[in-house]
Amino acid sequence: MKGFQVAVLGAAGGIGQPLSLLLKLNARVSKLHLYDVAPITPGVGVDLSHCDTSSTCVGFAGQDALIPCLTGCDLVIIPAGVPRKPGMTRDDLFNINAGIVKTLVEGIAKACPNAFVAIISNPVNSTVPIAAEILKANGVYDKRRLFGVTTLDVVRARRFVAEKANGVVRPEDVDIPVVGGHAGKTILPLLSQVAPAGCLSQLSQADVQALTARIQDAGTEVVEAKAGGGSATLSMAYAAAQFAESCLRALSGESVVECAYVDSTVVEGLNFFASKVKLGPTGAEEVFGLGPLSPFEQEGLTQLKAELKGSIDKGVAFVSAAA
Ligand code: NAI
Repeated sequence: MKGFQVAVLGAAGGIGQPLSLLLKLNARVSKLHLYDVAPITPGVGVDLSHCDTSSTCVGFAGQDALIPCLTGCDLVIIPAGVPRKPGMTRDDLFNINAGIVKTLVEGIAKACPNAFVAIISNPVNSTVPIAAEILKANGVYDKRRLFGVTTLDVVRARRFVAEKANGVVRPEDVDIPVVGGHAGKTILPLLSQVAPAGCLSQLSQADVQALTARIQDAGTEVVEAKAGGGSATLSMAYAAAQFAESCLRALSGESVVECAYVDSTVVEGLNFFASKVKLGPTGAEEVFGLGPLSPFEQEGLTQLKAELKGSIDKGVAFVSAAA
């Protein structure tokens, strides 16, 4: 099996550490590079390097180490930045995380412009457009290789659908597109398209609405339960490891379908949108349309457009203002 060089930026954090562990266990990873501004990062690298898997693992700390960390990488995953506390929206993180993502993507443009880039840092609805603008400004933008990671929304939807289906299906066997964006009402699970077909047939319309709301607000469920200690980290690491595995399979020549937030023409007026995409060696080789929507989902799509457009425009404006 071909091995790949993978970097995690923000590797010392709540998501970064368990994600790095899961990547150390992935046989498709030959070199794992961990970067963070936190001084503990070289130690995290040494710690993981003792796991008895074939890959090597090195930690890099501080801005001067960014380029050496990124050079030669095939896939870069970014969970750097501050998480939410109770009462905060993902957009409240914008002021800090926008600057962090900008700096990190400038490094990618210089050191590994052909890498797949997977952004976890919130607000994803804005940080992905920021990354696109930075890559464009450096003349290295390929829309097929930039992804906002929305896999946690899909993971949650699979889990919650299986709960509602009363044991007739295992969570890992549920297929459900989650489209739109990655914040509140912009997260739109298409429950009408769930497979196996009919596993939710006993749900009333009120049940469907409640399940939709639970998927949309699941991040806040974690933020409140952690009571000021941060947002989802372990389930996010699990989801990001799934997305990374799909990217590495795609880089190996397989064709893999995942939901991701990408540069898109699926919905008029929204330059970025999450939907099912076909991943291959060059990135998102096809972005699939939405398919038939129920009237409730159609209404949800109508409702999310203004917020998502505002978040995209805010990201683009941030880069223009900084130029
Ligand atoms: P955390 O605070 O535990 O870890 C963040 C890490 O980023 C820290 O180690 C910090 O030192 C590092 N960092 C800060 N500035 C940096 C820079 N300039 N360069 C490199 N590293 C830097 O936060 P946590 O819980 O790991 O969350 C990280 C991000 O992921 C947050 O923005 C959070 O909102 C987002 N998130 C996204 C989800 C998604 O579904 N896309 C789900 C959950 C969280």
